[in-house]
Order: sequence, then C-alpha cells, then structure tokens
Amino acid sequence: MRAGIIGIGSYLPDNVVTNTELEKIVDTSNEWIVERTGILSRRTAEKHIGSSDLGAEAAKLAIKNANLKPEDIDMIISASSTPDHTFPATACIIQDKIKATNAAAFDIQAACTGFVYGLITAAQYIMTGLYKNILVVGSEVLSKMVDWQDRNTCVLFGDGAGAVVVSQVETGGVLSSVLGADGSGASLLELPAGGTREPASFETVENRRHYIKMNGNEVFKFAVKVFEDCTRQVVEKANLTLNDIDFIIPHQANVRIIDAALKRLNFPKDRVVINLDKYGNMSSASIPVAMHEALYSGKIEKGHKVVLVGFGAGLTWGAVLLEWS
Ligand code: UT7
Repeated sequence: MRAGIIGIGSYLPDNVVTNTELEKIVDTSNEWIVERTGILSRRTAEKHIGSSDLGAEAAKLAIKNANLKPEDIDMIISASSTPDHTFPATACIIQDKIKATNAAAFDIQAACTGFVYGLITAAQYIMTGLYKNILVVGSEVLSKMVDWQDRNTCVLFGDGAGAVVVSQVETGGVLSSVLGADGSGASLLELPAGGTREPASFETVENRRHYIKMNGNEVFKFAVKVFEDCTRQVVEKANLTLNDIDFIIPHQANVRIIDAALKRLNFPKDRVVINLDKYGNMSSASIPVAMHEALYSGKIEKGHKVVLVGFGAGLTWGAVLLEWS
C-alpha cells in the first residue's frame, strides 16, 4: 500500500514582529539579521495561546482540504518542540479541540525534524493497512521558549502551525525516507531545565535555564552537512537522481544553510521553497507551512517529486521523497 498526503493546512498568528522592532529589545540590527539569516519578520502568538491552539486550526483546515470529517481521523501525531505541557500529549489536546473522537493520539519529540519523523511514522501505519487517516501536526509557540534577552536566539524563531492528513493513495505518495540521530550533539541545541535532569527551581529560573540555548556555529555546520547527505540518500533510495526532483522543501532555519547545502548539491535555488524571510524558524511547523504555501501558490503540482528535509535538536535529521498525487 502507498501512503501520501491527501490534505494540508496551516495557521499563523496575526502578530508580525519585524527586525526593526527587535532592535528595541536586544542589541541587534535589521542588517545583521537579514545578512546572517535571511529573516525579515516572524509571527508571535498571543499570551493565552499554546501550540495546540495553532495546531488545531491547521489540523481543521487539513481535514477539510482532505474532504474528511474529524471523526474520520484514526490517529493524531503531534511533533511540537514547544508542547503545551510535558504531559499530557499536545496531540490529545488537539484531538479534543477538533473533536477527532475516534483518533489515538501521541506526541513525538524530534525538534525541528519532528514533522519529517511524524510523517514517516504515519506512513508506516498506512502502509501496513492498520489505519486509514492520520493527522500529523507541527505546531510551535517558540516565542514563549526563547530568551528575549539573548540576541543569539531570539531573532531566529517564530510561531505557527502546519498539518497534513496521511492516507492511502493510488499512485505516488512516499517514495523513500531517511531518518537519523546523533545524541552526542544533544547539548548543542537544548532547553535545559524543566525536565527530570534539571527540575524547575528558583536557580533554574534565575539562571534563565528554561529558555532555548544554542551553539549556532556548530549547529550551522551540522545542518549543512545533513541537509546535503540525507537529500542525496533519500533520492538514491528511490533510484532517482537530483535532476528528477522538482522541489526541495527544507527546514527553514537560515537562508545561508540552504544556500550552502544547495551549492554542495548543485541544485538550483528556484526549485527550493523558502519562506523563512516571512516567518523565521518555526521548528516542526516550518516544512508543512512552506509545503502548504507552495501547493496553494501552484508551485507544486500533481506528479511533482518533492524532497522534504529536516534537521535540528537531538541532534536529529530526516528526509522524505514524495510524489505529489
Ligand atoms: O532549527 C534548528 C537548527 N538551527 C539552526 O540551524 C541555526 C544554525 N545557526 C545559525 O543559523 C547561525 O549560526 C546564527 C544565525 C545563529 C548565527 O550566525 P553566525 O554567522 O554563525 O554568527 P556567529 O554565531 O558566528 O556570531 C557572529 C557575531 C558574534 O559576535 P562576536 O562574538 O563576533 O563579537 C555574535 O555575538 O554576531 C553576534 N551576534 C549578533 N549580532 C547582532 C549574534 N547574534 C546577533 C544578533 N545581532 N542578533
């Protein structure tokens, strides 16, 4: 059996934060952010909004676009790096919000690679015939997890959500996939406190340990390498070449990562979907939001072969080669 995406949706909070506005918060400049990252603005959610709220909106649209009803969904996989809680799973909260009363629900944690991990996980349940319709949601409220005093990270991230329905398809769908991890790099990108390693305490709050910490240079080098490697691997696994690929939709972390990887792959930039200029890095939501925009702008069409490639904390990486059906 083949598994493919039959519906897609996304949702972005209205509030736009420009680089110029960030100049008032931290010691940065529009020029630095644009030159070093390619980001012009990002969205931020309101105070009372959690990842499940954005995820539920994206999910409703994905289900509608799949011509299904919430009751038709058998399973929900949420891949948020910024879940509503440690537990219960954000997937369960989304399940209740959208009234997908027949769905099993669980979270996976693969940070910015989460959507790719979730999509491949969903595809397995479809290919075995165990389930019919699976919702995969990447939703993030990173604005509540970044340290607004740390210019190294706060300029990079944004809030948003994307979701897909994965079901059986007659042709195309998932042609190949690659997943990987290297836990020795776990400390390069982390949110140190609030778990069992460093439970919340006065000290953890005082030392700002509940915010994202990143070694940007090391993560950058890692990202360029795995972007190239797993794009090549996923294409080879499908017995194709890069010339057969119509579009690459990468995780939207930094335009310089994309440029460096494309140079190594010798792949043209006009066949790459990029929207980080508008939204920054939305972690697990980056790829599905970019995919939704590319589809509805008519860029991606039926029959197109598309590589989704993700990388991030863990360290984790992954790619999926889809033929749009
Ligand atoms: O989604 C998960 C994956 N995440 C990523 O892939 C992110 C990967 N990393 C990156 O995108 C880049 O490393 C950054 C954008 C985070 C940083 O860019 P960089 O070119 O690697 O800069 P850098 O870390 O080498 O820093 C250069 C300088 C430093 O100043 P000094 O030490 O040379 O005086 C930083 O303090 O730029 C400084 N800097 C800033 N200056 C103005 C760092 N952030 C800022 C800022 N505004 N916002």
